[in-house]
Amino acid sequence: MDPQVDPHAEAGTYPDLRVQLDAQRAECPVVRHADGSVMLLNHFDVASAALDPETFSSAVSAHRALPNSLDGAEHRAYRDLIDTYLTDDEVAAQEPQARDHATAIVAALPRGVTVRTVLDIGTPFAVRTQSTWLGWPREIEDELVQWVADNHAATRSGDRARMAAVAERFDAIIRSLLEPRRSGEIDDVTSRLMRDTVDGRPLEDAEIVSILRNWTAGDLGSLAASVGVIVHHLATDVALQSHLRGLVAAGRTQDFEDAIEEILRIDDPFVSNRRITTRDTEVRGESIAVGTRVILNWTAANRDPEVFEEPDSFNPAEHAAANLVFGIGPHVCPGRALTLMELRVIIWALLEGTTAIGMSHERGPVRELAPGSGWARVPIVLDPHQIAG
Ligand code: HEM
Repeated sequence: MDPQVDPHAEAGTYPDLRVQLDAQRAECPVVRHADGSVMLLNHFDVASAALDPETFSSAVSAHRALPNSLDGAEHRAYRDLIDTYLTDDEVAAQEPQARDHATAIVAALPRGVTVRTVLDIGTPFAVRTQSTWLGWPREIEDELVQWVADNHAATRSGDRARMAAVAERFDAIIRSLLEPRRSGEIDDVTSRLMRDTVDGRPLEDAEIVSILRNWTAGDLGSLAASVGVIVHHLATDVALQSHLRGLVAAGRTQDFEDAIEEILRIDDPFVSNRRITTRDTEVRGESIAVGTRVILNWTAANRDPEVFEEPDSFNPAEHAAANLVFGIGPHVCPGRALTLMELRVIIWALLEGTTAIGMSHERGPVRELAPGSGWARVPIVLDPHQIAG
């Protein structure tokens, strides 16, 4: 598929998953699917399950994903290793390169005409900053952009064979990056990982591929989708845009990141993660048998009116403590600081490089299709008063 083509963008209206989840949660917060799986929608239930890994195990499939599918001490061992790559210092060291990519992308965008937020800003920014972080060559970036688009289409199709083929292609890309690093002459995050150890032994190739897959495969799409969600909010809410412009002018980076996390709470594009029960249990009086697949729906939990009185209101100070965008418990996202830095840098560059961001009148925005959420298409105009001649 051509990554430049927005797959379901041409005609029709697409449902907003949030509306559906809000209605479902109000009616029945523990949803039983035809395949026997159970979906949790309430904030309390989702957080409680994430905080109880002994009952809600992450070993949901035969496929071993590091560290996502592990539990207990085994999970902790890999998680300790992974956390060393994503400390505040490591993230701070990446900020200059992220800023360079953001500035270059924003400078190259046309003014006064329609720009596609996810395709022209979110995806190239995510791919370039993640590639630079990992030490991957420029030539690989086009392949990764294409891969993000194909992965997205395969996930939406629900076709398992197609998803497996796309995952296999990603593994091949990563393996091709390991070869030139075996001689020890290249020093970057990828080669550092190749020299790293877990439980006192070197990581195997399959483990390195799995870790790198989890740092990139899902997250490139999530980062790009997050840019779409944030820019849509800014382009449709003049007061919020003006508030964020004020934070830029005052150099208030922490408040800016808090604002980003709050916008993602209102419209969380990273919808869910799975667990499997290790024993018979109960949620809200509903019995759940051992071996049941349980879906923790972060998007729904983040809009639970029992916790966020007005779920659509922007109130970072009040809502931050209960925000579940990056999860909770032993599997809480280790990439949170990196993600927030990257999103801050690209949105900051967009605001600093423009005087106004408006929605395009030519084409409307289009919601993402389930199982995704957020926006598939956010057509905007930078500096709308500058109509291109
Ligand atoms: C908008 C971007 C992102 C969002 C919304 C997000 C969200 C999440 C959430 C909700 C979880 C919890 C999963 C669970 O409980 O099963 C998670 C886990 C994880 N995330 Fe992120 N993430 C993002 C970006 C990233 C990035 C950039 C990286 C890496 C560089 C990353 C690496 C991981 C890893 C490795 C895990 C598994 C942790 C474990 O199992 O212990 N994420 N993420």
